[in-house]
This record gives sequence, structure tokens and C-alpha cells, in this order.
Amino acid sequence: MNQHLHVFASRPELNRGVAEAVVRLAQQSVTAHGAFHIALAGGSTPRDIYAYLAQEPLREAMPWPKVHVYFGDERTVPPHHEQSNFGMAHAALLSRVPIPAQQIHRMQGEDSDPQTAAVRYEQTLRSHLPSVNRWPRLDLVLLGVGTDGHIASLFPDTKALHVMNRAVTAVHVAKLNTWRITVTFPVLNHAKEIFVIAAGEEKAPIIKTALDVNASVHYPVQQLRDASHVEWFLDAGAAAQLTDII
Ligand code: 6PG
Repeated sequence: MNQHLHVFASRPELNRGVAEAVVRLAQQSVTAHGAFHIALAGGSTPRDIYAYLAQEPLREAMPWPKVHVYFGDERTVPPHHEQSNFGMAHAALLSRVPIPAQQIHRMQGEDSDPQTAAVRYEQTLRSHLPSVNRWPRLDLVLLGVGTDGHIASLFPDTKALHVMNRAVTAVHVAKLNTWRITVTFPVLNHAKEIFVIAAGEEKAPIIKTALDVNASVHYPVQQLRDASHVEWFLDAGAAAQLTDII
């Protein structure tokens, strides 16, 4: 795996650093193959990054007509529910930039059967993305990470971690007493690039474990070892236990 670590002194610097890196990659992808396919993350960490992308100068620098937006996971709620990942991204970013509506592909969290929504989203990925080894290939996947080591909605001790024959799955997350829809590891592992973004000292222990190549694998985030290219974007809090590295 090819991986790099970026540590920023403050949360605003982290947000700007990630947003600028997204724009650079978008420009490179459009130059190389005429499009940029990005999967967005939910949770609270990316919201301010999305806001940066919606403001000048980055708004102008982003090749929006060539950008195609997907989601790494979704909660089982309607699109404008306060917990919807699409709803958050729409409010902070997608409603504020000139991206063609047909290039925004959301998971249908409102479907009464999340597994049906997962199958439909797999078809969406397969019909819009180029494939590599028969898996849909995203140019970039943005991921947050939970203190329990989950990424997207790949939570510890759930069946979704072991799904290797589907690109998208529904998963029951017992500790949250809810269903989620999530891309699977084969999709993450076939993405060209992954940005893992973490802020705050509460993330420091899981980040230390994730970056320790000698640690045995207990947490979903550690399974990113099989991904081809991961960039870690951390603020000083999340990097606080990486004393051997920085
Ligand atoms: C979600 C996510 C999830 C998130 C982490 C980190 O839908 O909640 O996509 O994987 O990225 O839980 O969340 P925070 O950024 O809120 O810490």
C-alpha cells in the first residue's frame, strides 16, 4: 500500500488542507480521463471541508461539470432528515455548487428494505464507474473514522466486514439499533485513492492503532491495509499519539 500522513496544527487548517487536496485530485482526474468520481463521507468531520469546497477560491477551481458524486454510506432515513449523509452534503456543498443534478448519486436511505436499496446502489456504481477486476473504481473515497474503528458503515463485529461478493450491502448495527447501507471493502480496496480524515484527541488511540503496521487487525480501519493508496489527514489532536512517526 502507498500511504502518506498529513498533520495540521488546527482544525481549520486540516479542513482547508483536505479541501485543497480534493481539488488537486479532481483537476488531475479530469485531465487524465475527463471525469472525477468521488464518494463522500457522512458524520460531523467532513461538514466544514464541504463548506470550504463550496466557497471561493476552491469553488471556482473545482471542475464541477465533470464531477460525479457518490456516497460511501447512508443512514436509513429520508434524504432531508437531519441524520442523512446526503442531506448534510447537500446542505453544506451540493446545493451551493454548479454540479449537474444527474451527476449526484445518493443511496436511498428512505427505502423500507435497505437491502433492496443496497442492490440498487450497486447497480448505480456499476453503471456509472469504470471497473477494475470487475469492481467499480472510484477516483477518491473520503472516509471519517469512528473511535470504535469503523469506516463508512463498516462497524466492528458486523457481517458487512466479510462481504466480498457485493459492492454495496445493508448492515444491521446492533449497538446503534439501526440499519445502514454501506460500500464494502472490495470497493474501498479498488478505489484509486482514499482520504481518511480524523480530528480531535478522542480519535488519537484508533489512529495510532490504524497506523501501527505491527498491530494485529481488530478494527475495520486497519483493513485499509489492503487498499492501494491511502492519505491520512489529521489534526494535532488526532495525531497526538503518533510520537514515533512525527
Ligand atoms: C457516518 C459515517 C461514518 C463517520 C464516522 C466518523 O455515516 O456516520 O460515514 O463512518 O465517518 O462515524 O464520524 P465523525 O466525523 O462524526 O466523527
